[in-house]
Amino acid sequence: MVRRACIVGHPVAHSRSPMIHGHWLAQLGINGAYGREDVTPERFGAFIGELGALGYVGCNVTVPNKEAAFAAALVEDSVGKALKAVNTLWIEDGVLRGMNTDVGGFLASLDAARPDWHRGVAEALVLGAGGAARAIVYALLSRGIRRVSIANRTKERAVEVAALFGSDVAVVDWSDVATAMGAAAVLVNTTSLGMKGQPPLELDLGGLQAGALVTDIVYVPLETGLLRSARLAGHPVVDGLGMLLHQAVPGFERWFGVRPSVTPELRALIEADIVAKGG
Ligand code: ATR
Repeated sequence: MVRRACIVGHPVAHSRSPMIHGHWLAQLGINGAYGREDVTPERFGAFIGELGALGYVGCNVTVPNKEAAFAAALVEDSVGKALKAVNTLWIEDGVLRGMNTDVGGFLASLDAARPDWHRGVAEALVLGAGGAARAIVYALLSRGIRRVSIANRTKERAVEVAALFGSDVAVVDWSDVATAMGAAAVLVNTTSLGMKGQPPLELDLGGLQAGALVTDIVYVPLETGLLRSARLAGHPVVDGLGMLLHQAVPGFERWFGVRPSVTPELRALIEADIVAKGG
């Protein structure tokens, strides 16, 4: 029997997950399939309730359904429980289970690109306060970074995120980002600014610590304006594609029984698709 999984989101047409999982299925010779399902938040509960009946062994869940997925599933993973959001679901012994692989995906991406990136890092600055920001703040703290500052256009959202984590996480005003950069050895953009079709992230990196790592979760384009400015100023940079690739690994393993690898070949495949579509 063909084992089937899918990405559930709204919108979902742009998702590269089918290409990633399709590559692994073909490469590993697995009799499986990975499709996409456009499901609105209103329909999400009903859809997930029928997941098994629809022939799926599990799915990925993306914006805007990750919190609803947490509510629908049995979540034993500490990351998913802390963030109250999961992006990976699977049916095991008839029970829908969930986990969050965004945190692990972010960390694995940085580890692969810049081993030891967190060694000696005392402070980090995160731009944005959406679901992705929560995962990134969690990830940074989990690596022993003592202080994480969050700056967001809408300050109240940054305050809400900081409240989840306690006194190690501070809020800075969006207008004070340039100043806050002086203390940060890691800078992460989790906003949608810089993404194709969105306004640019206009940031003067002049105040950033020498040698500070700059990373962006936006991966279309692969080199965002932020990453370009950082690279030209001599900072180490990590693009957002690695997080997308690495977050996919645990789900594939649950659904299809083999742990796949993030290879240069897979990266090149997705990069080529981004470029071909004008990213
Ligand atoms: P996700 O859950 O995927 O992180 P989100 O909740 O929509 O997505 O968050 C998008 C982030 O981009 C937010 O931090 C948002 O800031 P607000 O909370 O003020 O909306 C940020 N963002 C989007 N457009 C922006 C803009 N033009 N200027 C500054 N920040 C922006």
